[in-house]
Formats: sequence, structure tokens, C-alpha cells
Amino acid sequence: MSNNDKLILALDVSEYDYALELVDKFGEHIGIFKVGLELYTAAGPSVIEEIHKRGKSVFLDLKFHDIPNTVSRAGIAAARLGVFMFNVHASGGYDMMKRCRDDVVNTCLRENLNRPRILAVTVLTSISTEILRNEVGIQHSLNTHVRHLAGLALKAGLDGVVASAKEAAMIRGHCGRGFLIVTPGIRTSWTPVDDQMRTMTPKQAIREGADYIVMGRAILNQKDPVKTAEIINQEILTA
Ligand code: C5P
Repeated sequence: MSNNDKLILALDVSEYDYALELVDKFGEHIGIFKVGLELYTAAGPSVIEEIHKRGKSVFLDLKFHDIPNTVSRAGIAAARLGVFMFNVHASGGYDMMKRCRDDVVNTCLRENLNRPRILAVTVLTSISTEILRNEVGIQHSLNTHVRHLAGLALKAGLDGVVASAKEAAMIRGHCGRGFLIVTPGIRTSWTPVDDQMRTMTPKQAIREGADYIVMGRAILNQKDPVKTAEIINQEILTA
């Protein structure tokens, strides 16, 4: 994996053409692009095909959360699109994650496909301890809940988790080496945190044990986004 592949750019836009324009523009600095709910809903799977044609990889961030049969079938569809990574919500439970993982592995073997990494979202980086307690109704601490969900994902055979960099070291300790940790909620020291609650800088995130960092607005909303990506890659290199 090249160093450039540690920074994943979130294509949080809704126009097909604009998304591909961004892929071309960042081509030199970004190897993996994240296609999330907005772009996928607006542009559909053909945008993924086009990203692949440009020699780039896709993290399909649709955070599947449904009954095991539905999530498994969605996972198989993601594998057939050839994405490098996709994710499910760990709070969908052990059976949902395990069934999805097993069915994707078997389909990939049968159809000779590259097996995508499957990640579990633990607790969204926009959720604080207070929200978790008062709105979601989880009474134990955020850290305890994240650790529990990461452990469940590991037990279900998933490849890793999406979590805040603030929990990366704890997850590494609990789930061991080789378990992927992908961290959104990353902000440079000079950008606003927006709706994110549990943020860290790129350098801190890598030092805490993140394998990949996901960034959207803190790059795309800058005056010179490409230069910003270049600076962040440099920061990752020195971490
Ligand atoms: O603009 P920003 O860098 O905050 O974007 C973060 C991206 O990561 C968004 O696309 C968001 O959907 C995604 N994400 C997140 N928290 C998670 C999983 C994904 O912020 N737990």
C-alpha cells in the first residue's frame, strides 16, 4: 500500500460529473475515493464503474443496517461492483455481520471476485457521550460501547471498523494487529469541526493507530483542495 492510499477522500457531492472531475483532479494524491449515501443515491453504481476505469479504488460507505438476509444480499451486490471496501452498522448485530461476511466470501470464491474488506461502523463520529446516553439510550460509556461493538465485529469475522481516531488505540489494544481501523471525523488544525464531535488531526489519527483516514469537507471546502491533500499526505508521512 502506498502512503497516498492512507488518505481516503469522501466524494460527498451529488453530481455525477462533478464527482468524476474531483477524482481526476485528485488523481495524483488520492488512491481511494469514498462513495457515500449522497453520491450513490444521486448517481447510482455507474459512478463506481467510472472511478474504477480511472484506476482508483472505492470505499462504498452505505452503512448497511437491516435484517441479515438483506444486508448479506447488499454486500454481495457491493462485491460484484468490485469495491475495495464497504461497511455495515455493528449495531445490526452479530448474525447480520457474520451472515454478510460469510455470504460475500463464498460468492467471491465462487465467482472469482476480489473480496472486499468489510468494515463495521461502531458509533458515528457525530455522536457524543450525551447523545448516546440521552437519545440512543445506551447507558454505559461511549468507549465501552465502541469496544463492545468492535469486539463483536471481530468475532463475526469482519476486517475492521470505522471509528473515531479517539478510540483507535483502545480498539487496537482490544482487537489486535491486522484489524483495520478507518477513522472519519478528521480535521486539520485550521478547519472547523462542522457536525463532527470526536475529531483529531491526520497526524494524531495515524499515531493512534488508524490504517486509513477519511476526509471530506476539511479538504473539499479549502481554497486549494488539491494542495491541502498534498499537505495532509506529507503530514501522514511524518506521523
Ligand atoms: O466532511 P467530513 O470529513 O466530516 O466527512 C466525513 C465522512 O465520513 C462523511 O462522508 C461521513 O458520512 C463519513 N462517516 C463519518 N462517521 C462514520 C462513518 C462515516 O463521518 N462513523
